[in-house]
Amino acid sequence: MVGAQWGDEGKGKIIDYLTERADVVVRSQGGNNAGHTVIVGSEKYVLHLLPSGILRPGKTCVIGNGVVVDPVHLVREIEDLRRRGVAIKDNLVLSDRAHLVFPYHRQIDELREEAKGRRKIGTTKRGIGPCYGDKVERVGLRTGDFLDEAEFLKALRARVTENNRLLKALGGRAVSFAEVSREALRAARVLRPFIRNAVVYLHEALKSKKSLLFEGAQGTFLDLDHGTYPYVTSSNTTSGGACTGTGVPPNRIGQVMGVMKAYTTRVGEGPFPSEARDLSDMLHAMGREFGATTGRARRCGWFDAAATRYAAMVNGITALAVTNLDGLDTVETLRICVAYKLGRRTLDVPPSSLRDLERCEPVYIELPGWQKDTSQVRTFAGLPAKARAYLRRIAALTGAPLALVSVGPARDQTIVVP
Ligand code: GDP
Ligand code: IMO
Ligand code: MG
Repeated sequence: MVGAQWGDEGKGKIIDYLTERADVVVRSQGGNNAGHTVIVGSEKYVLHLLPSGILRPGKTCVIGNGVVVDPVHLVREIEDLRRRGVAIKDNLVLSDRAHLVFPYHRQIDELREEAKGRRKIGTTKRGIGPCYGDKVERVGLRTGDFLDEAEFLKALRARVTENNRLLKALGGRAVSFAEVSREALRAARVLRPFIRNAVVYLHEALKSKKSLLFEGAQGTFLDLDHGTYPYVTSSNTTSGGACTGTGVPPNRIGQVMGVMKAYTTRVGEGPFPSEARDLSDMLHAMGREFGATTGRARRCGWFDAAATRYAAMVNGITALAVTNLDGLDTVETLRICVAYKLGRRTLDVPPSSLRDLERCEPVYIELPGWQKDTSQVRTFAGLPAKARAYLRRIAALTGAPLALVSVGPARDQTIVVP
């Protein structure tokens, strides 16, 4: 399951819904830049590193090699959930190849953003980019390094020394090795029982006919290769990332579900052709669309079918889940971006060049709003005819079949499309 837009599509809610029929839920990329909201009864959970499946007893959750793990944060997340009565024991597997995020990564992330000024990316400041940077540079530390404390400390000391030089050059403050290593070792002791070869675990699960569900983080247009570079995150958020980030090969993946909102949102900077101030104001006034990780107000806009069409291609989407339909309940006239105008040219997918994308003007069609409350509806036939027409249109424009419609954050506010 992948996000088909710019993240925050409602993946957490849909994963939680689908987990009922899965045995293992796997995260394959990203880190605690993600924030996946799951509502269970009157309880609200926001998961950052733990797969959302952790809330369902009897399911196993795997953090794959492609994820970047802030160990201190992960321990905090585990302890917070345990305090709330969620059992985390042998239902969690942490890959021994996942790269570790340290405080110097977070500081570098922040300092680089400051230095960029107006051209900042608007990152979550979780150290994601610098950590993946170390991975690509082949100097990162991994969860497996926790297993030998002496070797781990030696390697960490070298990393701290080098990064302190960088921190000073960027105008920041050096981190203390004593402090960083103390925190890391404490986290390592909590995490050690979960660390193992997750590739072997997943292949054993496949052999015993277990069903795996991959929980995408971020969204297609935040993908390092396919997104609106450089306004992206540092991992492959598209479906291929599920393979490289877990060691499960492409021929074992049967279905790709794309999750998208009935409109579009984006948090952070970067081009967003169908952004609409009036829709943003309306949704924010309803108390909606504030970030689950940073609390920032999300930018909102009309549904962008030129973007989701591209997402369907890149991910190989075989089924669509449309969330937040209820967010449009009061809109009189709905707009759908069906293409972009770039000078005299009409484009039906986003251009690769940032400069071109920034200059794109959306081409809209208009559809009448249904102006009825959909949050209590539980069947597709029970939706207002105009809502069904809108959903059919956005699915057709995207080029994939509609499978699920979500009309509220709760588990039961989910409609299975026949
Ligand atoms: P994720 O990052 O893709 O998991 O999405 P987030 O959790 O960051 O943001 C989605 C927000 O929409 C959360 O607050 C969800 O509880 C909420 N949500 C998901 N689906 C629906 C829906 O159909 N209707 C409403 N009203 N809220 C929804
Ligand atoms: P979920 O999984 C929405 C955005 C940031 C910024 C850019 C780079 O909840 O959908 P990073 O900290 O990753 O270097 O920031 O990516 N971003 C997200 N936006 N949802 C997310 O995750 C995001 N994770 C990162 O706002 O624009
Ligand atoms: Mg989110």
